Amino acid sequence: MKIAVGSDHAGFASKQTVIAWLERNGYAINDLGPYNEESVDYPDYAREVAFAVADGLCDSGILLCGTGIGVSIAANKVKGIRAALACNPEFASLARQHNNANILCLPARFTDPATIEQTLHNWFSSSFEGGRHEKRVNKIEPCC
Ligand code: RB5
Repeated sequence: MKIAVGSDHAGFASKQTVIAWLERNGYAINDLGPYNEESVDYPDYAREVAFAVADGLCDSGILLCGTGIGVSIAANKVKGIRAALACNPEFASLARQHNNANILCLPARFTDPATIEQTLHNWFSSSFEGGRHEKRVNKIEPCC
């Protein structure tokens, strides 16, 4: 499985936690930056990760910014992307089980390494339940 990863400056340090966890757990990683803590604009990185997932180059994506809100808004502008902000591990499970989310967004300024690791564990060990959730997810389409 290949995972696209990106952040902004606020998410850079936590991105290293994400990358280390992915490496330890045997995932291939496409780190789309940034590569230091210089100030950058989160939509630029959110778009790159979203394109990598939407184009099928990566199986899913992880995005981080200070709140996780900016990257989720930006990633969700790309057709085919269902980016979910997970403030705790349970959100990550439900985002996969109910929403078939394909990008996990993390709030770097409002979490800690242990929570990030548990959130990643939940994300990768959960899958879409289909059933009643399928028709709902299918209704999520650009409408204008
Ligand atoms: C950067 O200061 C901050 O605005 C950004 O990381 C993010 O939280 C935006 O949603």
